[in-house]
Order: sequence, then C-alpha cells, then structure tokens
Amino acid sequence: MIQVQNNQIVPYKAILIQEGSKELQKLSSFIRTKFEGKVLQTAYEVVGETLHFYIGIGDLENYSAIVAKEIGAKVVKGLKELGCEAFEINLNRLIEKFGEQVVTDVVEGMLLGGYMAPKYGEQESVKEIKIYLSGINEERQAHVQSLVDEISHVVKGVAFARDLVNKPGNLLRPSDFVDEISKCFRGTAVEVVVLDAKAIEEAGMKALIAVGGSSENQPYFVVLRYLQDETSDEIMGLVGKGVTCDTGGYCLKSAGSMLGIKGDMAGAAAVIGAVYGLASNHKKANVIACLPICENRISAGSLLPGDVISSLAGKTIEVVNTDAEGRLILADAVTYAVQKEKVTKVLDIATLTGAVVGLLGFSIAGVLSSDDRLWDKLHKSSVKAGERYLRVPYYKEHEKMIKSQIADIKNMGESYCGTITAGLFIREFTEGKPWIHLDIAGTAWVDAPVFEYQTKGATGAGVTSIYYLCQKEEECIG
Ligand code: BES
Ligand code: ZN
Ligand code: ZN
Repeated sequence: MIQVQNNQIVPYKAILIQEGSKELQKLSSFIRTKFEGKVLQTAYEVVGETLHFYIGIGDLENYSAIVAKEIGAKVVKGLKELGCEAFEINLNRLIEKFGEQVVTDVVEGMLLGGYMAPKYGEQESVKEIKIYLSGINEERQAHVQSLVDEISHVVKGVAFARDLVNKPGNLLRPSDFVDEISKCFRGTAVEVVVLDAKAIEEAGMKALIAVGGSSENQPYFVVLRYLQDETSDEIMGLVGKGVTCDTGGYCLKSAGSMLGIKGDMAGAAAVIGAVYGLASNHKKANVIACLPICENRISAGSLLPGDVISSLAGKTIEVVNTDAEGRLILADAVTYAVQKEKVTKVLDIATLTGAVVGLLGFSIAGVLSSDDRLWDKLHKSSVKAGERYLRVPYYKEHEKMIKSQIADIKNMGESYCGTITAGLFIREFTEGKPWIHLDIAGTAWVDAPVFEYQTKGATGAGVTSIYYLCQKEEECIG
C-alpha cells in the first residue's frame, strides 16, 4: 500500500541524498566516513525515535527510469531487512528535477522490490509494507496519488506475469494456465475466449496442433478482447508464446539447458500482464491478444526433424528442428489475429532464441520490426517503462536463409543469425501488417539479478513496455 500523505508518524524514514549536496554535509561524521551519496549506496542511523535510512541518488547526471526503479527497490529491500513495516519517503528532490513521472518510476521499483517468488508447499503470509509519500504539495497530491494507483495496477500485472513464469511446469500445464487467465480477467472488461484442442483443429491451426499434439496435456488457444476505444478503428494484436514446457521434442535439449524450460511461456505471460494493466486502469485502447498455449514434448505423435506440416495460413513448413517450436505456434496465432480477429498491427513476444542471449545477454531484448513508427513507439514506451530493447536489422539475404526446397518455408536457418531468421519466419505470417517482434529469451529470466528490482527467476519482461505501447502516443511518451 502506498499513500500520498503528510505528517504520518512512522518510526522509519527513507531519505534521498544527492552526491556532493548540502544534505550530505548535514549527516553525522560517522555516516559520512562510509556514505557519499553515490547512486544506490545506503546507510542508516537512529535519530531520536526514528530510523533514518539514507539512499544515495548520485549526481543525477545519468538519470533514467531504470535508476529510479533501482532506488525504489533498494529502499524497500533495505528497510525490510531492518524489520520495517511502514516508512515515509520524500521524493521532492527528484520531482523538482525530473517531474512527476519520477513518482511512477520510484513507486514501481518500491513495489517490485517487495516482490517475492512464491515457495511451493508453504503457506506464506506476506506482510505488505506501508509506504507514505510525504512532502507533496497539496495541489499536486491528487495527481501524484493517481500516478501511484496506476502504476500499482501495472505492477500487479508484472507480478502476475512473474508468478506464472516462476511456476514449475508440472504445476502449470496448459489447462492450468488457461484457468489462471480466466481468473485474472474475471470482472474486467476483457472478454476471454478459450479454444481447446478440438476447436483449434476445427479452426485449422495445424502448426499449433503439430506442436501441442506432442503431449497428452492438450493445447489451448486463448483470445483476449479489450475493445475500449470507439474513436479508433485500429486494433493492436498481441501474440505471446505460451509453451508451458519446452523439452525440445525429438531434438531434445541437453540436461544443462533444460532448467529454464518452464519459463517458455513468458511471452504469453507478458501479454496477459499488459492487458491486465490496461483493463484495471480502464485505459482507452483496442487490443486483442492471441495466445497459443501448449507443451513441446516427446511422444509417438511428436514432430520429427524433416517433417512437413501445414498451417492456418495454408503455408507449408519444413520442420528442420523440433526445438524451434515457438515460431510454429506463433505463426498460427499471428494468422488467427490478422484473419479472424482483424487486428491492424501485430506485436509478438516470445522467449524465442538462444541466439539473442548470446548477442544481448540478460538485460536487453532483441527486436525486429517492419515498421519504423511502431519501433519508434515501442522504443519510447520502453524508455518510459525502464526496459531495454535493441532493434536488429534484416535484409533479403536473411530471408533466403529460411527458404525450403520441399515446402514454402523452413523453421530454422543456418547456424548463425538465429534471432533474425526466427523473427523473419513469423513475419511471413503477418500479411503485410505493421509488425514488431520482441525476443525476450534473455530478459525474461535471471539467475543472477541484473537490477535491484529483480529477484532470481522471472522478471516480468515486456509487461510495462507493452502496456504503454498499447496506449495513445501522448501517454507512451509521458
Ligand atoms: N525456447 C527456446 C529458446 C530459449 C533458449 C529460451 C534459451 C530461453 C533460453 C526455443 O524454443 C528454442 O529452443 N530455440 C532454438 C532454436 C533453434 C533450434 C533454431 C535455439 O535458440 O536454440
Ligand atoms: Zn524450443
Ligand atoms: Zn521454446
């Protein structure tokens, strides 16, 4: 719970200290021996009845949403460790310099800093920390509180995405995933349509059936419709990869690379989190999400390398590698979004390639896009959200890499340019609609957290950037 409120008596106070500032000089000489106000440096002391928790904010030269989120997270984690259940914090120094958007960023960090990955089989009673934003002038208070409320809903979306991705594969079968989605959107303006294996087959999604048929846990296809902007004919299509467990199929993954296989539905989880944010904040937007959900396993019915399958679009696909399953199910989902749901733009998001991890590591996601304006808007949204994306180029030499001798297209290129060829495979199914593709294989999961607001495990990558992207231009620039 976060409230904009002055004069709340709490025994803990978080104080932002700028490097080289007057405030720094006022601290006790003992504190000053080890604390200089450098960014994310912390120190604390008891002053009278109150514990003062100092957090360095640096010289404020290299400010970004990421830094603000890290500051927020570090404060909450530090104070929690000290047994604090309620504290006040005055953000005026940052607001004066960077505007009220800072509140959104710091609060997002504070809320995520309190996130804990669930432990299974244990009943946990998570005590929520109470936070009071003090020192906000009266005329600003209502607006600041509305920013707090908005980002709190978005963070719920992020936490929901993290929880889903953190869930072990045996506790999140495709049917469990569908149940969670239905629960999430109950009572909201989001219409949820669920297709089971029979309905998927009847709809003609042959590629999704080909992958999902590998398991006795049948595949599903979920459509989320949020149509709340009658002033616009545009509909943003969001397509998220929902592989609840990716063993690789007959092109079996090695034991070492199997541990992350439960997180292969992070794309779908990101879409769900973003749509949840839009709906819970009653945003004016038209969004339709299409989520192919399945497992990729070994069975008598599984795909074999060399198989040729068809797809909803009618294109034939040579399956060179059964571990490149994501693009197969995304192909059908994109076709469904364009043909059946009449979306006018397509964003797809997936933990798609190991290659993007090699290229960009765990803090930057790879992007391909056919449309400069869509990329520009995503880029601005991501800066506001405090996420990092890099657009990767593609040319006709890359298109050639997925041409097949025996089918219209193949699901794997050469041993290089893996991120590009994976994206281009999906683009083949967009029917010329403006398209943007986010490969979050590196950013969806961290074994060693990169930022203060992350914990080991799922990060909720994509949720906040997509949330802003789906809104009017003014909103995403901020
Ligand atoms: N889900 C994986 C990609 C992945 C790799 C996600 C590492 C997270 C971490 C995807 O289905 C996959 O296996 N891709 C293959 C494609 C290849 C066989 C063309 C890959 O990247 O190795
Ligand atoms: Zn795979
Ligand atoms: Zn996969």
